[in-house]
Order: sequence, then structure tokens, then C-alpha cells
Amino acid sequence: MMKFMGVVDWFSDRFPWRDMYEHHLSKYYAPKNFNFWYFFGGLAMLVLFLQLITGIWLAMFYVPTSEQAFASVEYIMRDVKFGWLLRYMHSTGASFFFIVVYLHMFRSLLYGSHKNPRELVWLVGMAMYMVLVIEAFMGYLLPWGQMSYWGAQVITSLAGAIPWVGDHLVLWIRGDYNISTATLGRFFALHVAGMPLLLLGLVWLHIVALHHVGSNNPDGIDIRDNMDAEGKPRDGIPFHPYYVVKDLFIVAFFLMLLVGVACFFPEMGGYFLEHANFESANPLVTPEYIAPVWYLTPYYAILRAVPDKLFGVLAMGAALLVVFFLPWLDRCKVRSIRYRGVYYKSALTLFVISFICLGYLGTVHVTPVTTFFARLFALVYFAFFLLMPLYTKYDRTKTPPRRVQVE
Ligand code: HEM
Repeated sequence: MMKFMGVVDWFSDRFPWRDMYEHHLSKYYAPKNFNFWYFFGGLAMLVLFLQLITGIWLAMFYVPTSEQAFASVEYIMRDVKFGWLLRYMHSTGASFFFIVVYLHMFRSLLYGSHKNPRELVWLVGMAMYMVLVIEAFMGYLLPWGQMSYWGAQVITSLAGAIPWVGDHLVLWIRGDYNISTATLGRFFALHVAGMPLLLLGLVWLHIVALHHVGSNNPDGIDIRDNMDAEGKPRDGIPFHPYYVVKDLFIVAFFLMLLVGVACFFPEMGGYFLEHANFESANPLVTPEYIAPVWYLTPYYAILRAVPDKLFGVLAMGAALLVVFFLPWLDRCKVRSIRYRGVYYKSALTLFVISFICLGYLGTVHVTPVTTFFARLFALVYFAFFLLMPLYTKYDRTKTPPRRVQVE
């Protein structure tokens, strides 16, 4: 033990691990009223870690060429010991990542976590979301199934809608005139190394920025406004051990659910793994129906709701871009929905309904009826953000309490 402590001291003299541990864990005072909605940030970190581990192991057996990619995935599924588990944990993990991140983002809309002084936390979060979307899109090409191939074909061709440079851009992205080994190679490199490194760097920024200003909470009030004689927030408790233990409890439940789905429902009725992707890519046969995985379908529905290709791409881009501006669009005096008025509550309800409906419409065949509803819900989606400065400013709010409310 003495020897071990000697090593620890030697290390501490040369590296500030103790300061970091205290700053982010044992002396990081988090509000004592965290609820269910505060589990998802930690869970997102857990899924990221699981994706990295399962992804590294998959990369040991996967071959990124158009001739061998599909067969190498079949080899992983049938011949590699526990290869099926690795692959299903990774594909299920991708969907769970988005479920967790969407709930994590929704928490912000509930408690106004994006508002001053956490704008940077929000912006870094949105950057992570964009990286995650690209990461998932690139990962989907790798199994080289029919949907991988044709999905990549459709999405990369969108760049062609840009005037003048469009065709050159498509060629540059694909590295070939068609989706081919050249495309697969670059998507593979970015999927296994480029994007994950970027994501890890952004997660670090996200946490450092959050811990600098302190966490928000379900009451949306600043616990740092109410300090005791020792300079600690009266309504705060050290993150470690209190929230670490609480989070570990939910991690156990979450892992049971994730492993349960990966083992028993990995395709989830075609939502997590689309049926057409169990056939090898065939450049000569277009599948009857092409759609991305469920987590990207709200934006796909917006893209298809616009008849012109260029304007469709612009609408889809605007739908993503507008979310970055949320901290400045929200003019409400209070943060939490508990003290906001009926305008915000109604707008948020309509937004959630429209997002879910757009997600559904992005998975079905286009008909005049689906197009009508896609346009309607796209309008609601944009109205939620663009009218926000108005309805949040004139909303009738309640005065929040001075101390956090513990249920
Ligand atoms: C890889 C994805 C992500 C990871 C690993 C992650 C991780 C975390 C963690 C660990 C926390 C602190 C715990 C908590 O409040 O739940 C947090 C807080 C936060 N995150 Fe994320 N996050 C991710 C994506 C996002 C996205 C996409 C957004 C929004 C665009 C976002 C916005 C926020 C905000 C505003 C907070 C502060 C919440 C508060 O104090 O109430 N995060 N994140």
C-alpha cells in the first residue's frame, strides 16, 4: 500500500489528476434536484464508449472493399466468435445513441438549459449532433447492402443540386463516378477514426464548458446565487459520490435494455436495420423504396416535402441550422417549463408532435396525402423556432422559487 501511495504521489507531482478529479467530480457541486431527464448526458457518454469498443473489434474483421465488405459482415455474423453480438451491439447502439441524444436535447427544451450562460454548451452539443449524423450516415454504407448503397447514392447526389460546383462536389465526395471502393474507403477511414476523434474532442469541450458555468436543473435557477459560508452552493451536492452512484444504477437498467434489444430484436421491425440491407449492394437494381434509418427521417421528410431538389436541400439544411440559434431565439425571462406560460407549453407540444410525425412520414412511400402532411408539419417545425422570439417574450410566466424544489 505504501509503495502504491508512493507511485500515486510521484504521479501527482507531475500531473494534475487530483485537481481534475476534484474539479469535475468530488468538488463539482451539482444541483440536488436532478431528475430522470438528467440521466441522458451520462448515458450518451456510455453509448459513445460502447460504440468505440465494439467498432474497434468489428474493424479487426471488416474489409472495406466493394467486393468483400458484404461478405466480411456475413463472416463476422456467422464465423467470428460472438461476432453477431459485436455487430448487433454496434447497430443497436447507433439507434440507442440517437434515442438518448434526442431525449438529452429535449431536456434542454424543458428546462431552458440552452439559455444564458450555457449557450456554448448548446453550440458544442449541436456540433456533436451534426458529427453524429455524418458518423451514422457513413457507418451505414459499410455493410454494403442494398440500402447502404442506394442511401449513399441518394444523399451524396444531393450535393449535385448546388449550382455550378454541384457535379464536381459529388465527384469529390464519392472519389469516383459512382459509389465504389473509393467511396467505401474514405467513409470507412472517417467513420472509424476521423469522426470519433472529433466527437471525443467535442465531448471534452462540452463538459469543460458546462462545468465552468455549472449545471442547470429542473427549476432553471442558478444554485451558485446562493452560497454558504464555505463558498459552496446551498442547493448543490458533490457529483461524486452522489450522482455517480445514482447514474450507475440507471446504467445497469440501460445496459439490460440495450443487450436485450441487441439479442432479441436487433432489426426492430426494420427500423434499426432495414430489411433491404440484408441483400448485397447491386448497382443495377434500385430498391423499390429508399429511406434512411429512423433517426434521420424527420429531415428526409422535409427534403421530400419540397418539389425542387435545390430548395429541398436548402430546407433540410435550414431545419438543422436553425436549431443552433435556439439560445438567442428563446427570449423568455425564466428557463424552466415549470414557470413558463401556456404559449411555450403549447408550442413545445406541437413541435414534438410535428417532429415525430415528420419522422414517420420520412419512412413511408410518398403520396399526395403524405406530402401534404409533411409540408404542414415542416411549417410547424420552422414556426416553433422562427416565432419563438415572439411567443417566449409575451408568455405569462410565474416567478421561480429562490431555492430548488426537491420532489
Ligand atoms: C455525444 C453526444 C453528447 C454527449 C456525450 C453529451 C454529454 C453531456 C453530459 C455528460 C452532460 C452533463 C449531464 C447532463 O446534464 O445530462 C451534458 C449536458 C448538456 N448537454 Fe450534452 N451531450 C451530448 C450531446 C448534446 C447535444 C446534441 C446537445 C444539444 C444540442 C447537448 C446539450 C447539452 C446541454 C445544454 C447540457 C447542459 C444541461 C443542463 O445543465 O441542464 N448535448 N451533456
